[in-house]
Amino acid sequence: QAVRTVTLFPGDGIGPEIAGAVKEIFRAADAPVQWEEIAISTKNVKPGEDLIPQAALDSVRRNRYGLKGPLETPVGKGHKSLNLTLRQALSLYANVRPCVSMPGVKTKFDNINVVTIRENTEGEYVGLEHEVYPGVVESLKVITRQASERVARFAFEYARSNQRKRVTAVHKASVLKMSDGMFLECCRRISKEYPDIEFKEALIELCCGYLVSQPQRYDVLVLTNLAGDIVSDLAAGLIGGLGLTASLNKGEHVVLAEAVHGTAPDIAGKDWANPTALLLSGVMLLREMDLHDHAERIERAVHQVLQDAQCRTRDLGGTARCSEYTQAIIDRLGTA
Ligand code: IPM
Ligand code: MN
Repeated sequence: QAVRTVTLFPGDGIGPEIAGAVKEIFRAADAPVQWEEIAISTKNVKPGEDLIPQAALDSVRRNRYGLKGPLETPVGKGHKSLNLTLRQALSLYANVRPCVSMPGVKTKFDNINVVTIRENTEGEYVGLEHEVYPGVVESLKVITRQASERVARFAFEYARSNQRKRVTAVHKASVLKMSDGMFLECCRRISKEYPDIEFKEALIELCCGYLVSQPQRYDVLVLTNLAGDIVSDLAAGLIGGLGLTASLNKGEHVVLAEAVHGTAPDIAGKDWANPTALLLSGVMLLREMDLHDHAERIERAVHQVLQDAQCRTRDLGGTARCSEYTQAIIDRLGTA
C-alpha cells in the first residue's frame, strides 16, 4: 500500500501529547501514513510576521492532507486566529463535524446522529470590523452566492455519499433578510438537484431548542459560519463534548482534520489530556484517503475502550492518563 505523507501540526498546550497519541495508534494500526511534522504556534510569531510560515502552508498544499492539534488564539486586536488563517489561506470551505453518540458515554440521549456542515470562509468571520465613531462599532457579515452554493452542494453530496436522508438549512432569514435570505435561497436551489435527499429549513433558535429536546429531527445541518460554530458546539455537547468530537475542514484540493477543543494549558504536559477528538479527526482523514479498513479498526478500538469504561481520561470521569488510554486503544486494535 502506498504510503501517504500527511502534514501534522501538533499545536499548542496539550497538542503535542495528543498528537503523540495519534501517531502511536496509527503506527500500531499499520496505517500507511508518514508525518511531516511542523510546529506552528502563536508563540513563534513576532509582530509584523506571517502568522503561518509559508513552508507550513506549502506542506499541506503539497501533501493535500493535514492533521492539526489545538492552536492558541492570540488575544487582543491585530492578530487573527491561526485556525482561521489556515482555513482562509487553504480555501477550506466546508467544516464537517459529525456528532454521533459514543458507546458507553452517558449523555441525555443515546442515539444522537447529527452532522453539522458549516460554511468556513466568510460570514461574520471575514474580520471586517470598524468603529464608526466612539461607541459605535460595525461588524460585517459577508455572504456570497458562490460560497453558499458551494457549501450547500457539499452538504447534499455529503448526505448522498454517507447514506443520509435529510439536509436542514439552519438560518435566521426572518431577521437577516438579505444575508441569511440569500444563503437559504441558495440551499433551496441546490436542493432541487438532489431529489433523493429530503430538504428542510429551520430557524436557528428553533433548531437549537429541538436539538436539546428532539435531536432525532435532524440529520445533516448546513449553516453559515458563526451559526455553524455555535450549533456545532451544541451538537458536540450532546455526545459528551468537544473532547470527543471529530472535525474536518474540506477544500477543493486540501483536507485538514482538526480537534475543535482548546489547548487546555492547565493540564498541558501532564499526560492527562484526552486524545479522542484528534484521533477521531485522524480517522476522518483516513477515510478521506480511502484507508477505510484502518479507519474502521481504529474507530472500533476507541469505541470498545469507551464502552467497557475501565480506562477513561479525567474529563470523562476516569483516572487514566493520556498514555494509558492510548495503550488501551492499541491493545484493542488486535481484537477490534
Ligand atoms: C472552531 C473554533 C474557532 C472558530 C476559533 C478557535 C477561532 O471555535 O473551530 O470552532 O471560531 O471557528
Ligand atoms: Mn468553535
